[in-house]
Amino acid sequence: MNIFITGISRGLGKELAVHYTESGHKVFGFSRSLPEHPEGVAKKLLDSGNFAHYAGSVNNDADIDAAVDAAVKFMGSVDVLINNAAYKNFKMPDEITAEEYREAVNTNLTAPILICRKIFPLMIKNGKGKIINLSSNAGMVSYAGGTAYCPPKAGLINYSQSLAKFLKNKNISVNVISPPTFSTDDYRRTSPDINHGRLLQSEKVIKIIDHIILSEKLITGKNYPVFRLKTWLKYYYYRQFELLEYLFQFRLK
Ligand SMILES: NC(=O)c1ccc[n+]([C@@H]2O[C@H](COP(=O)([O-])OP(=O)(O)OC[C@H]3O[C@@H](n4cnc5c(N)ncnc54)[C@H](OP(=O)(O)O)[C@@H]3O)[C@@H](O)[C@H]2O)c1
Repeated sequence: MNIFITGISRGLGKELAVHYTESGHKVFGFSRSLPEHPEGVAKKLLDSGNFAHYAGSVNNDADIDAAVDAAVKFMGSVDVLINNAAYKNFKMPDEITAEEYREAVNTNLTAPILICRKIFPLMIKNGKGKIINLSSNAGMVSYAGGTAYCPPKAGLINYSQSLAKFLKNKNISVNVISPPTFSTDDYRRTSPDINHGRLLQSEKVIKIIDHIILSEKLITGKNYPVFRLKTWLKYYYYRQFELLEYLFQFRLK
C-alpha cells in the first residue's frame, strides 16, 4: 500500500513510518524535519527505498501542494492518508497567546481538513482510499488547560464523520482515532520519570490503524476512542449528567 503520513519526525508518526516501511509498504512522510532519534533512523528509512519525505509545514498551502505532488511522484498514488501531525499546547487560557491559539487550530484542524481536501479527489479517481485522522480523548472531554487543544480535536472528530458520509459510496473510508495519553519511544526517552507502564502504549494505537487499513471490509465513519476502562467509566458517568441536564431544560420551560 502507498501511505501518506504527516508528522513523522517523532512520536507516533515516526513509529508508524518505521512500522509500515518495514512491513513492505511505501510511505511518504510530511513534517518540518526528519526523525533524529534514534541515531540513523532517518537514514535507515530513506535507504529502504520504501520511504520518501517532504520537509515543510502542514500549515502552508504551498507545502501541502508540493508534498502531495512529491508523494504521487514517489508512490504513484495515495491509498492511505494518516493525518497525525499535531501541535500540543496545554497552557491556561490566561497564558496562551493569540498566535498559539491560531497555530493550534491550524495544525490540529484546518491542516488535516485541507490535506483531506487535496487527497480525496485522487482517491476518488483511483476508486479507493482510506483516511485516518488522529484526534484525541481531548476532543470528547474538557479541561482548563485544553482550550487550545480540545476544540480542534473535537472538530476533527465531527469533520471526519461528516466526510465519511460524503465519501460513503465511493469506496473511501474515513475514520478517526481518539486515544487518551499514550506512551511512545520518544515520550519514554524525553520523560523517563513518568510511569509509562500505566499509560496506553503506542503499539495499541498502531494495532487499531492496522485493523482499519488492512481489513478487507470497508470500515468507515467510526471514532475509536481507545478508552481504557477507567477513562470510559468516567466518560460514561459524565454523559449521564449531560443527559439529565438535557432533560431538565424542558422542565424549565
Ligand atoms: N501522545 C499522546 O499521548 C496523544 C494522545 C492522544 C492523541 N494524540 C494524537 O496523536 C498524534 C501523534 O501524537 P504524538 O504525541 O506522537 O505527537 P508529537 O510527538 O508531538 O509529534 C508531532 C508531530 O507533528 C509534526 N508537526 C507539528 N507541527 C507541524 C507542522 N506545522 N507541519 C508539519 N508537521 C508538524 C511534528 O514534526 P515537526 O516538528 O518536525 O514538523 C511531529 O512529527 C497527534 O495527532 C496527537 O494529537 C496523542
